Amino acid sequence: MKNTYNLRSIAAQAISQVLDRGQSLSTVLPDLQRNISDKDKSLLQELCFGVLRVLPQLEWYISQLMAKPMTGKQRTLHYLLMVGIYQLAYTRIPAHAALAETVNGATALKKPQLKGLINGVLRSFQRQQEQLEERVVNNASHHLHPSWLLARLQTAYPDHWEAIVAANNQKPPMWLRVNSLHHSTADYLSLLTQAEIKAYPHPEHPSALRLAEPTAVTKLPGFNEGWVTVQDVSAQGCAELLAPQENEYILDLCAAPGGKTTHILELAPTANVLAVDIDEQRLKRVKENLQRLKLHAKIIVGDGRTPDKWAKDEKFDRILLDAPCSATGVIRRHPDIKWLRRNDDIATLVTLQAEILEAIWPKLNVGGTLVYATCSILPDENSQQILQFLERHPEALLSDGTIAGHQILPEIEGGDGFFYARLTKKA
Ligand SMILES: C[S@@+](CC[C@H](N)C(=O)[O-])C[C@H]1O[C@@H](n2cnc3c(N)ncnc32)[C@H](O)[C@@H]1O
Repeated sequence: MKNTYNLRSIAAQAISQVLDRGQSLSTVLPDLQRNISDKDKSLLQELCFGVLRVLPQLEWYISQLMAKPMTGKQRTLHYLLMVGIYQLAYTRIPAHAALAETVNGATALKKPQLKGLINGVLRSFQRQQEQLEERVVNNASHHLHPSWLLARLQTAYPDHWEAIVAANNQKPPMWLRVNSLHHSTADYLSLLTQAEIKAYPHPEHPSALRLAEPTAVTKLPGFNEGWVTVQDVSAQGCAELLAPQENEYILDLCAAPGGKTTHILELAPTANVLAVDIDEQRLKRVKENLQRLKLHAKIIVGDGRTPDKWAKDEKFDRILLDAPCSATGVIRRHPDIKWLRRNDDIATLVTLQAEILEAIWPKLNVGGTLVYATCSILPDENSQQILQFLERHPEALLSDGTIAGHQILPEIEGGDGFFYARLTKKA
C-alpha cells in the first residue's frame, strides 16, 4: 500500500518544533511518528537528528543558494530545504528519490506553489555540491556548535576541545548493559554472536557491550525478558561508583526514566530503592523499565529541593543524585541540545544542582555514600560544584580517589561525556 504521508514534510515539522518552539526531539517525535511504518520511523529519525547535527552547515549552504531565507509562514519550507540538502550531502539516499520526495513535501505542507523553488534550490545544490563542500570546511559553521558553547569548551579544555567537538559531531555508538542477574557479560556476548550481532566488551565496565552497529532492541536476545538494557557505558559508571549493597536503603534522586534505578537493583537486588523525580510523566518510564526487568522499587513524584515533603523522617545509606544538567556530554545522542540550550541556562542549572545537593545531604546517614552525577562536561556543573560543596561541608569527604570528581569526555566509539563524584559523610 502506498504511504499516505510525506516523511520529508514530517521531518521539517519536527525540526520546526525544535528550533521555533524550543521543544526537544524526544518530545515531538513520538507524536509525529505515531502512524508511520517502523522502516520510515528510522529514516525520520535519521533526517531529524542528522539535520540538527549539521545545522550550521545546512544554513550556510542555503545562504549560498538563496538571496534570503524563507521566513514567517514559509519557515517550515526552509527546514524542508535543509532536509533535502541533508539527504544529498550526508546520506546514500538516491538523489532522484531525495529530490522527488522533498519537492512533494511542499504539497504536504500546503505550499504547492513553492515546489518549483524547492526543486530549483536543490538542483543548484547538486550542481555546485563539490565546490560548496570544499568551501564549507573553511567556514565558522564547520564546528557545528553554537559559539557560546564552543567558547566554554575552549576555555575548559584548551588542548582537548577539538576532540570533544569531533566526538559530539559523530553518530553515537549503541551500548548495552548486560543484566548480571541473568547472564555473565561473556555469556550474553556469545548469545549476540549466535544472533550475528557483533559486539565488544569494555575493559573497565564489567556489564558493558558496544554494538558494532546500532540494532533494533527487538533483535537483541531476551530484551523483553530483561536480559539486557540499552545504556551508555559512561552512565553505567554511576551505579558502579555508588556500589549499592544488599538490604541497604537507597535513594535514586532524579531517577526518570530509570536507567540507573534498574542498574542499582541489578547490582543489589535486595536493596530497598526509592526512586524520586519531579516529572510524573517521565516516572512512568521508570515503572515500565522496572517491569521489563522484573525488579522492584518504590516510586514517588517529588522535588529534590524539598525532601521533607516526601521523606520526612528518613535517612538513606546511599544516595544517587543524577542531577538535571546542561546535557552537554550527550550532544551526539541529542544534537537538538546544541540549539535548545542557552548560555544563561548554565548558571540557572548550577543553582538548581546546588540547591538539590544541599537539601538532600542531610538525608544521608553518617558513614553513607552520595554519588553526584551529571551528563555535562562543563566544570561549573561538575568539579566546581563539588569543590564548592566540599568547602561548605567539612563533614563531606570526596571518597573516589580524585581531587574533584571524575570528568569523562565523550569519545568516538567510547562513552558519553559524564561526571561523577562520590562523597562520604564523616561523623
Ligand atoms: C539526567 S535526568 C535523570 C536520568 C535518570 N537518572 C536515568 O538514569 O535514567 C535528570 C532528571 O532530573 C529530574 N529533575 C529535574 N529537576 C528536578 C527536581 N527539582 N527534583 C527532582 N527531579 C528533578 C528531571 O525530571 C529528569 O528526569
